[in-house]
Parts: sequence; C-alpha cells; structure tokens
Amino acid sequence: MHETVKDEAERKQVTVLFADVSGSMDLAEQEDPEEWRKIMQRFFSILADTVTRFEGTVDKFTGDGIMAIFGAPVAHEDHARRACYAALQMLDDVAEYAAELRRAKGLNFSTRIGINSGEVVAGAIGEGGGSYTAIGHTVGLAQRMESLAEPGKAYLTEHTAKLARGYLDLRDLGEFEIKGASRPVQVFELAGVGEARSRLDLARERGFSRFVGRERELARLEEALERANAGEAAAVGVVAEPGIGKSRLYLEFLERCRSEGVEVFEAQGQAHGKSIPFMPILQMLRSFFGIADNEPEQQAREKIAGRSLLLDPAFAEDLPLMFDFLGVPDPERPVPQMSPEARQRSLAEVLCRLVGKPSRRQTLLLVFEDLHWVDEGSQAMLSGLIEGFGGTRTLVLFNYRPEYTPPWQASECFEALELAPLRREDTRELLHDLAGEDPSLDGLDEPIHERTGGNPFFIEEIVRELAEAGYLEGERGAYRLARPIEDAGVPVTVQAVLAARIDRLDSDSKQLLQVASVLGKEVGEEALAMAAGLDAEAMERALRSLVEGGFLYEAQLYPERLLAFRHPLTREVAYGTQLAEQRAATHAAAARALIKLEAPERYDELSALIADHLRQGGETLEAARWSARAAHWAGHSRPHDALRLWRQVMELVAELPEDEETAALAVHSRLLQLQYAWRIGMSREEQERLAGEAEEIATRNEDLHSLALLKVATAVRPGLDHYGPDWLVAVRETVELADRSGDRHLRAAVRGAGAYAYLCNADFDGFEQILDEMLEIVGDDGSVGAGIVLGSPIAWGLMGKGMVRREKLEFEEAEELFERALKIALDEDDPETASWIRSNLASLLIRRDPEAALAIARRNVELTDRLGDVFSRSLALSNLAWAQLIAEEFEGALESVEESERLYREAMDSGGEMEGWRGQLRARALVSVGREEEGLEVAEEAARICRERAMLWAYPVAMLTLARARAAAGADGVAEAFEEAERVARECGATTLLMDIEEERAQIGPGVY
Ligand SMILES: Nc1ncnc2c1ncn2[C@@H]1O[C@H](COP(=O)(O)OP(=O)(O)OP(=O)(O)O)[C@@H](O)[C@H]1O
Ligand SMILES: [Mg+2]
Repeated sequence: MHETVKDEAERKQVTVLFADVSGSMDLAEQEDPEEWRKIMQRFFSILADTVTRFEGTVDKFTGDGIMAIFGAPVAHEDHARRACYAALQMLDDVAEYAAELRRAKGLNFSTRIGINSGEVVAGAIGEGGGSYTAIGHTVGLAQRMESLAEPGKAYLTEHTAKLARGYLDLRDLGEFEIKGASRPVQVFELAGVGEARSRLDLARERGFSRFVGRERELARLEEALERANAGEAAAVGVVAEPGIGKSRLYLEFLERCRSEGVEVFEAQGQAHGKSIPFMPILQMLRSFFGIADNEPEQQAREKIAGRSLLLDPAFAEDLPLMFDFLGVPDPERPVPQMSPEARQRSLAEVLCRLVGKPSRRQTLLLVFEDLHWVDEGSQAMLSGLIEGFGGTRTLVLFNYRPEYTPPWQASECFEALELAPLRREDTRELLHDLAGEDPSLDGLDEPIHERTGGNPFFIEEIVRELAEAGYLEGERGAYRLARPIEDAGVPVTVQAVLAARIDRLDSDSKQLLQVASVLGKEVGEEALAMAAGLDAEAMERALRSLVEGGFLYEAQLYPERLLAFRHPLTREVAYGTQLAEQRAATHAAAARALIKLEAPERYDELSALIADHLRQGGETLEAARWSARAAHWAGHSRPHDALRLWRQVMELVAELPEDEETAALAVHSRLLQLQYAWRIGMSREEQERLAGEAEEIATRNEDLHSLALLKVATAVRPGLDHYGPDWLVAVRETVELADRSGDRHLRAAVRGAGAYAYLCNADFDGFEQILDEMLEIVGDDGSVGAGIVLGSPIAWGLMGKGMVRREKLEFEEAEELFERALKIALDEDDPETASWIRSNLASLLIRRDPEAALAIARRNVELTDRLGDVFSRSLALSNLAWAQLIAEEFEGALESVEESERLYREAMDSGGEMEGWRGQLRARALVSVGREEEGLEVAEEAARICRERAMLWAYPVAMLTLARARAAAGADGVAEAFEEAERVARECGATTLLMDIEEERAQIGPGVY
C-alpha cells in the first residue's frame, strides 16, 4: 500500500470522526496539572492508536480530543465502517481506562464521539506545505454530531448510516435541526457491530437479486470439484474487480456443493483486516472445528482436541500449539519455546495435515474470500497448504481482485479463473429482476450497461440510488421511470469502491487517469501526454499500469493510439476527485493540446469540444471565440446545437469587459439566436429581450451592420404575423440600412432574407429583381452573405428565379434552375434551402408526374425531419399534403397538413405568414374526406386571414379552395369565390394558379353558377 501524503489537495469521500472527553474542564480543576497532563496523554494515545489501527489519519488534537479522517490520504472503500469500528473500540478502551481512574482517583471520565461521511477537500493546507487536513461542510457536521452525543455514546449522520448500515447496529434517533445544515439531519446512535460481515450478507438481507449468467464459470468449478472428488486436489482462484460477482459465484456454487454433501469451510478477508495477522487462517480453523464467536474456552479446546484426534491421534502433540494459536491456551499445556518462524512453520504443517489427510473419504472444500487483503503470515501458510495437499480430496477456492497475484500462481494444481463483467443480456435480465418490466423502463438497460460496464454491484446500487433519488417510482421489481436518468449521480457506495481503487495507483498513473477523465471518454495518446505534462517514459509506465489495472483500454492502435475508459463510472469518480482549480487547468491544457495537435481542417468539427474545454478552463474570451466558430459550423444543419452555442457565446461574453470584439460578439450571439426563432421556435418574451439587448449594444456602438440584421430579425423574417405592404416597407428600409453599411455580405444577406416578402405578396417581378440584385452582389463567390440569414444565397436565388419561371409557364427552365439550386445547396451543406427546393421541385412535377412529385415530397419530409428545424419541417409536410391531395391520397393529406400545423403551433407563438396557406390545404383535405362542413369553416377562416394580412400569394389559392368548399357543402357564393380568386391571380400574374382555377371551374360545371 502506498502511504505517501499527497502534496496536492483533492476532493475525497471520507468519514470524519471527532472524539472528546466531556466535562474535562471541570475535571482539570480537581487534578494537579502534571498528573492531569499524564491522564490526557494516555487518553489521547488510546484514541490515536485506535485510529491508526483502522488505518485512519489523526488530523489534529483539539485540546480535549481528536479529529480523525478515514479514507484519506489513501482511500478505503469501507471508510465509514472503519470509523464506526474505531468508535466502538474507543468507547470500550476509554471506558476501561475511565473505570480504572474512577477506582484509583475517583475521577469521572467519559467520551463522546461524532461521525459523518461525505466529500471534503483534503491535502496539505497552511504555510510552507502545512500539514495534512480535511476541510468542508462534512467536517463541521461531524463535529456537531460530537457535541450532540451523550457521554459515552457515538452519534453518526444519515450519510454515514447509508454506508455502514447492516455492518453496524444503528439506532435511529430521528431528525435533528442542525445549525449550518439546510435541512434536518437524521441522526443515529452507534449501538454495536451488525449482522453483516460482507457485501453479500447485506445483499442477502435485502433479498438477493436473481442470479444471471455465469454458466461457463460454474461448469469450470464443477470440473474442479470432480477432480477433487477423484482424489486430485485442486485450487481455483477467481479474479475480478470489486462487485463483478466473485463472492456471489461462490455462494451459488457452494449451495450446490452442500446439497451434494460436500463439507464446506469458509474464511472471509476484511478490508481493515490486513493489520490483524492470520485472520483468514484463524477463521478457517474456527469454522473447521465449529467454534462459535463467544464459545467458552474449555468447550473450544474440547472441540479442537475432539476433531483433530479423531482424524489422527498424532495430533495430540500439536494440541498446545493449536490451542494457543486459536486464542484458547491451556494453562496446563504451555507451548514449547520456539522462534516465531518456527512456530509459523509448525502451524502450516499442522494445517496441511488437518485438511490434507489422504485417507479422508469425503471431499473437503475450503473457501478463502478476498485474498487481496491477506496478511503475509496467512499467505505463507496458504502457500504451504497448496504445496502439501496434493493427492487428497480437497478443493480450495480463493477469490481476489486484479491487483493481487497469488504466489502459487504457477503451481500445477492451481487454476485462475477470470470473471468477466455481465453480458448485455445478463444485465437486461438483472435489471428486469431489480426494476421490473414497465414499458417506461424500455431502453434503460443500454445506458445502465454502458455506465456500469456490466458490473452487477454497480447495477444494483444504481437502481437503488435511482429509486431513492426519485428517478424511479414504485417498489423493487416494479418500478416506473419518473424522469430521465442522464443527470443521476454516482452512488456513494460505488464511489467509495472506485475511489479506493484509483487511490491505490502510483501518483503518475493517478494523475494521468485524472487528466484523461477531463479530456473525455476516449482520448488520443498524444493529447493525453501533452495535457498531463509527463515525459515519454513516465507516460508509458503510467499508461501500462492503467491498462493492466483495467482502468483504461486501447480502443484503437492505428493511426494513433486511443485510450478509452473501461467504464464511465471510473471516469466520473476520477473527474470528481480533482479540485475545481486543478481540473480547470487541465481543461485549458486539453484545449491547447487539441489546437496544437489537430490539423486545422478539423478545427471546425472540434470547435465545440475545444470551446467546452476552454470554457471549463476559465479562458472565457477564447471559449467565446471557439463557441462562435462551433455555432457557425453547426449552422442550419444542426439548428438546435447552433442555438445552444450562440446562447453559450452570449453567456461567456457577459462575463467579460466590453471592448470592440466582445460588443460585436454580444450583439451577434443575440442576433443569431433570433435567426433560430423562426426556424425552431422561441418564446416571444425571449425574442423581445434578445432584440432589445442587441439593439441597445448595437446603437451604443453605432453598429449599422448589426442594426440591419436586427431589423431582419424583428421585422423582415418569416414567422411574424406580417401585413403584406408593411412587410415590404420594412424590407426596403432594411436593404437601405445594409447598403449604407457598405458591407457586401450584409447587402446580399438582407436581400436574400427580404425577397421572401415579395413572394408572399405575389410580386413576382419584385421578387426576381431583388434576387437578381443579390446574385449580382454575390457574383461568383458563393460565400458572400452565406450563413448570415440563409445558408447559401446562390441556391436560394436560383430557386426563387425558378419559381418566377414557373409562373411564366417556362417549366423546363424552372426545373433546370431548381436542379442547379439543389446541387449548390447540397454542395454548400445547406440542407435547409435544399428542403425548400425539393418542395418546389415537387410542386413543379405535380401535374406532369404526380407519383414522382409525391416521392420527392415524401423523401423531403424524411430528410427535413433530421434537421430539427420546425419551419422547414412544417413547410415540407404542407408540401407533401398538397402532393397527396393531387394524387388523391386524401386521408394522408389531412394527416400531413394537421401534423404540419401542430408542429408549427407547438413551437411558435403565432401561425406565421403561411397560416392561411396551411389553412386552405387543411380545408381542401377535409372536404376531400367528406367533412364538408368543417372544410367550409376552415376555408372561410383561411381566406379571411390571407385577405386581412394581404398575403396575395396565398389569398387567391385560399379563395379557390373556398369556392370548392362552398360547392361541396352546397353553400352560396361559389361563383363569387371563383371570381375573386381569378381576379387576384390575374392581377398578380399567378398563371399556374389561373390554370387551376380554369380546370376547377370546368369540373364543378357551369350549372353551379
Ligand atoms: N451473476 C449475478 N447475478 C445477479 N447478481 C449478481 C451476480 N453476481 C453478483 N451479483 C450481485 O452483485 C453484488 C456484488 O457481487 P459480489 O459481492 O459477489 O462481488 P465481488 O466480486 O465479490 O466484489 P468484492 O471484490 O468487492 O468482494 C452482490 O449484491 C451480488 O448479489
Ligand atoms: Mg466478494
């Protein structure tokens, strides 16, 4: 074990213990100071020795007591238990000494103890390195427990109880209001040692989970047993990380053995037992002779003598040694004088003879658990046993964790059995048993398997934690998911196990693991080395120990070595053990490593990651810059990410003093968030707030560029309840503002954005003209104005021109323009414009080839779905509805348009400029499925909206639909509606619509007029 005190502070999960002498001040007066000093010294040494015995650290002497920490500097997975055992021991030892003082001096002494577990910052604190100590709320609460405790008692909090329950006997004292704690704390009195000795005892008490998998391992054990039955002694060592199921595997196997009449004896190692020599051997012998814990000495001796003499009368000679070793020395038969080595050798030999008698008929099964905690003496005895038991009917089973290698590894009768984590299907079965099969739990097994790496202990603890924290509702075996589990923390029990494993690493390896945890789930070797600042040799050594220890694995060897965490929980714990400051420095180093090592071509795709490291590294301005880059890159292909990243830029910049750059970033981040308002939705208040803030900053800085864009966001963009003519005025003003700024990009972008207003006003010439202006400004350089409002201005311009050609009935030219536009949109990675172009292609084809049109519209919906952009998705669905109507798929059409409406409504505050257009589609679909009355109502409403807002592109279409709906419902005013549709369509030059009107009129027939 490595005991070096770290010079760096760390966050640690520990248990803190305070013990003092109560009433010592009064006592001090009664006693001569010199005498008093002696008493106190003795008192302190009782406390301190006990702390040391359980491998805790005395943090400080408090004047009349001590403060001790368990689990730091070296983490112990059972820190809470150690503190409790130490407390029990202290109470006993102090009581003994107090009784002595009472008898001899008439002094009254008692001690009080307070215990609490949780996170602390531990390390050398104070001038010039200082001494090792722990600070944090956890410490304060432990001290409060001490002042709360009655004399002669130890009190502990719910936090310690959670870790120690079962192992210790706790008496619930109820909830207490504690100064400094935000809510009442549940307090327990430590009443004694509990029933449970091991994790499995605890599991048994709670009810074992269903045993899953392990068929292969059970078969291997079965084979070993058969060999032993045949007189070929065998030893098997099951090795695996904590919690994988070594003990449980044995438990299941032993049950089978016992039922077949095999005699089984067990010994169990204890995490704090290394300091107690020969504990496993003693346990084994007690179990072998059937001696209970509090057996009277004489009776114990009888049992020992009885059983051994029955085996072989020659044991008579060894009885004194056995009695002595087992702690029941016979005063009449003293042990002969011998050196400790000789004594140990004799004992090993006795042990061999006891278990290894060749003539024994029955197979003997010895199980030694947790050999990684074995003391040297026991290990030597076990080695002797393995050497000497050949040819007998004996099976010895060991288990241990990977950090231990048994010295008899090479022995012929020994076989090591590596226990793998549970398979995915086993995890699923275990989860079904623990949590049940409610449909809300579907898909939970994946992330839990991932997170726990198939470790059944972690799985059990996580399920329990999820239930306790309210993620799961119901009861064991029948839970429902109450909320998503993404943000669930690591259970303290699991944290204790993992932190202890991490702490056993040498300091380079530990540091490397911590750095890796900051860098990511999977890290490149070079970046890791750079961020860790280790030289090649140290790096290689540390990496090897991490891979061998099962912390990391090589996820890829070529072209670069990639290392990945074996399970995410290790990463979480390693991450959590670092101080915020140190972690921040590593984040910053990670960002620098990425920038330095990666090719600049990859910067775009890595920008979000780099930005994140910089942000967490506290390099705010750089983080804002890289976030902006990432946001641009996410752009219209990932609008949700883009919105999130722009928000991040805004928040980062808010922490910085204002200068030219930060002011620009502050404005842009807001403007660009507003860009997504009409695409994916945003509440009106938020839009107004962002616009107000942006305007304030831009005006203050006389930033015409931003003011123009702001006007786009507040008056020009789609998604507002525009009134047609006003909309055009706003467009003209914005174009003017942009022209005044003289920025080519802005001039192009604003024209692109404004063009849509002309289209909705059915001003096809105006539409073409503004697009031509835009295309002229852009010229051959597709990047001009790109990504500001629209992804690719050229693609959008060509598409718009295609729409105008269509109205001029030049269908071939229109199709050619759409095709060109689509190619450019795809080449420029602008899926949004591509989606609109596909809709237009579908509408163009709809008369000539309804099937092809339908196919394009369907595909478009599919592709646009992935975009996550509500505006385009809703549009694509409306377009599909239209194609479906023409193809006479009426039910489908109704479904599509209703979905289109629903999506839009859910995300946006208003129906937007397409409200009337969607309405008339829905009316048509309703009429077509025979719901004429409803259809008529919806058509009237759609026509009204279009008329009132002067949306001239959609208005005549809505009137045509109204004519149709009236005809179908047998209502009046069919002819008037037709006439109005025709008048407006003719005025605007909506020629394709005129064709529809003619056709429709002919179908409905002159009789109607
Ligand atoms: N195959 C299994 N099926 C169902 N539950 C299992 C299985 N294996 C182990 N468990 C459960 O997982 C928990 C941990 O198992 P166990 O105590 O055997 O681990 P271990 O490998 O002995 O760990 P340690 O090294 O800490 O002693 C127990 O509650 C046990 O019941
Ligand atoms: Mg075990």
